[in-house]
Amino acid sequence: MPSAKVTVNTISSMKQAGTPIAMVTAYDYTMAKIISNTEIDMILVGDSLGNVMLGYPSTVPVTLEEMIHHASAVVRGNGNAMVVCDMPFMSYQVSHEEGMRSAGRIMKETLCDAVKLEGGSEVAPLVRKMVSAGIPVVGHIGLTPQYANVLGGYKVQGKNEQTARKLIQDALALEEAGAFAIVLECVPAKLAELITSRLHTAASIGIGGGAGCDGQVLVCTDLLGMTQGHVPKFVKNFAGLNEIMTDAFNRYSAEVKSKKFPAAEHSFNMNEDILSRLQ
Ligand code: KIV
Repeated sequence: MPSAKVTVNTISSMKQAGTPIAMVTAYDYTMAKIISNTEIDMILVGDSLGNVMLGYPSTVPVTLEEMIHHASAVVRGNGNAMVVCDMPFMSYQVSHEEGMRSAGRIMKETLCDAVKLEGGSEVAPLVRKMVSAGIPVVGHIGLTPQYANVLGGYKVQGKNEQTARKLIQDALALEEAGAFAIVLECVPAKLAELITSRLHTAASIGIGGGAGCDGQVLVCTDLLGMTQGHVPKFVKNFAGLNEIMTDAFNRYSAEVKSKKFPAAEHSFNMNEDILSRLQ
């Protein structure tokens, strides 16, 4: 695990030193425990929780209670990584007051280290309030899944001059408001690199943002090869857990049905005298 607790200062020093930042999502205690034995710097309890763990069709139905429940479990399993918890859809869009309350609940009830919210210049005033209140904030621009219904689906963002300029402005507005890191999702690699070079304090964390970002994030089940069906182009499988797990469940089921499992070494003994008195 990282040799000391990863804080906003660590992330800032890594950006300044050009040391790449490794971030991964996690949603439960066991995954966080496994990650705590690695050199991963940041864990994101993403609202991808909805798709990945809860079987929702999008991140839209995810509630604040669900985020708090899962982020608390991740914090309990965490080592020295920084834990960032996503603010779910409609927990900060209605008013600044509600946004502040939602972020406050996440920080107090999960004991995570920072919150992440989607949006650019329009959420910058709220980001400023959160940071002034002592809440570290990660921004998220480009493909913002909570806005997929208005974006017209899950598409690469910033491909024409107007939208590319808007993304640059959004990144600078978030940085100016005090965000210490900004996720760039599904942004052309050269644009993500340009945005990264314009950011002086905030670290860019790419997901489908190419190699020019200060760090990278992937959904844990994608990188572990557990996801069934479509996986986005930006995903690389670092393991094939789907096949390994399917094989293990099949072998277990076959051994239960053939009575090969459990064997003597998986069973408990008792005193033979006591047993004979019971018969
Ligand atoms: O919810 C999530 O997992 C995310 C990542 C895709 C960055 O926001």
